[in-house]
Amino acid sequence: MPSSRNIRWQPSVIDRKSRSWIKGQRPCLIWLTGLSGSGKSTIADALEHRLHACGRHTYLLDGDNLRHGLNRDLGFSAEDRCENIRRVGEVGALMVDAGLIAIAAFISPFRADRDLVRALLPECFVEVHVSTPLSVCEERDPKGLYRKARAGELKQFTGIDSPFEVPEAAELTIDTSTLTVEEAVDRICNYMVAAGYIDSF
Ligand code: ADX
Repeated sequence: MPSSRNIRWQPSVIDRKSRSWIKGQRPCLIWLTGLSGSGKSTIADALEHRLHACGRHTYLLDGDNLRHGLNRDLGFSAEDRCENIRRVGEVGALMVDAGLIAIAAFISPFRADRDLVRALLPECFVEVHVSTPLSVCEERDPKGLYRKARAGELKQFTGIDSPFEVPEAAELTIDTSTLTVEEAVDRICNYMVAAGYIDSF
């Protein structure tokens, strides 16, 4: 709801359907959720590459990158993470409205926040749980953040002293300790075909 009663929705003649028709694609938001180091960004990048190679118009929203700009005022308290996901959900919804296949890679540890994004995008939200176990993420530790968190130098780190709520009804679950990146991308693309978002890849 807007903050004032004096704000009205301004309708537009060109809508999502007309924008996506011109692109010849069915827009959606592919949402990757999982622990830091689980492989979300790597899969998201490879997925975008694959879809782009098939002529799809995509856009990638990545947690670390958005925290350099739009979300640079936010930290990692529960409130800030909630606001982070709310903003990204709204941006993702605009992108879907623009006719794009948007891909989002965010830890997004709270179920309620992810469900709010799902509610924004009925019929075009695909939740992918990148379920790589904590022990594997911690062993990979690509940014050295788990080591810092274990040493007490980094507080509120997801999986260590901040929770991750596992999705209960994700469209897909992908564990990168048993699948390669290309296999993970195949799974998502196969789902997208089965669900009618793309016809082939
Ligand atoms: S979210 O929880 O709000 O969804 P987001 O995906 O935007 O997180 O950002 C996560 C990235 O921020 C991680 O990949 C990691 O590089 C970095 N980061 C820094 N501090 C933390 C922290 N306390 N918990 C989790 N990730 C952190």
